[in-house]
Amino acid sequence: MDNTVNEKVKLLEEKYAQMGQDINSYLDGLLLSNYLTYWDYTQVDTLLTLQNPKTDYPDELIFIMYHQITELYFKLCLHELEQISKNGKRMGVNGKDEGWNEKLDPIFFAERVNRVNRYFEALTKSFEIMINGMEKEQFLRYRMALLPASGFQSAQYRMIEIFSTDFINLVDKDVRESFIGKNEPIETLFEHIYWNKGATELATGKKTLTLKQFEKKYAAKFIALANDTVTKNIWAKYMSLSETDRANKRVVNALKELDVNVNVNWPLVHYKTAVSYLAQDSGDAPATGGTNWQKYLPPRFQKRIFYPLLWSKEEKEEWGKAWVETNVFKTKA
Ligand code: HEM
Repeated sequence: MDNTVNEKVKLLEEKYAQMGQDINSYLDGLLLSNYLTYWDYTQVDTLLTLQNPKTDYPDELIFIMYHQITELYFKLCLHELEQISKNGKRMGVNGKDEGWNEKLDPIFFAERVNRVNRYFEALTKSFEIMINGMEKEQFLRYRMALLPASGFQSAQYRMIEIFSTDFINLVDKDVRESFIGKNEPIETLFEHIYWNKGATELATGKKTLTLKQFEKKYAAKFIALANDTVTKNIWAKYMSLSETDRANKRVVNALKELDVNVNVNWPLVHYKTAVSYLAQDSGDAPATGGTNWQKYLPPRFQKRIFYPLLWSKEEKEEWGKAWVETNVFKTKA
């Protein structure tokens, strides 16, 4: 046996001895076990069983799969945001998980926020698949079989928001001021969460079924996450850095980009898609969730801003506007 193999066997012996295990039994297991395959590792066969359209329209497969792709990216975002909120993992020798770091490293912070930025940039760019990749006639037909489900009910999207900012910034902008400095519990703030406005029935002003079902399934989970992240959300973690690190351009730019990616660029390309499918000469088609989406979806109306202290007064006033004018209205004309 060459020396490196001997060395490795010795290390393995030590590893198992530390846990009171006999290396021989494990070597037997190694001899008996099969080689790993791509299909077992990626679970691709299971993954490909998860596409179940509700109608025979071929383009519905694109719609369902693009939502699934988006949810996978959202999962990657949450994977990073959670690590930032806990200061990042300490990995020991032999790849052992040694728990969370006690202190947050500013470069780690910026790089991981930038990973989320890249995921959102990929999503914003690929939204073209929705805008131009389906026949409008097919979309307008099969969507009727999906009522009252809506992307509005994406829990991961809301969790990204909860992880990213102080909860007060997710309160409806028209009442937000009245809660500032009051120290109200998350439960009270949640009653005024901005997205309630996007889920009100046009005709009656009541909560839509889409919202009622969403709350029934996820409200408790969202409130628990918001309580858990009061001191651990991305803004709170930023504020825990030293003054010098807080002034670091890399750190500040990563956060500003996140704000624009999540609150302007993705919402706008999504809104542009809603316009291109649902806007009609004879009045707009109601959304599957039955909402007033034209007044709700544009970022310049929502003014969702994760990091208001990083933007000037003017930038906040102009939030989302230029993009709407140059992209959406030009497309409609
Ligand atoms: C043809 C494609 C799409 C159209 C026409 C569309 C349309 C809409 C509309 C009209 C709403 C308002 C709520 C409602 O009444 O349903 C909405 C909300 C939403 N959709 Fe989509 N959507 C599309 C694709 C997607 C995709 C691929 C995702 C990815 C998960 C998504 C995620 C969302 C989210 C997160 C909201 C809530 C936004 C907010 O509260 O600000 N949508 N969508």
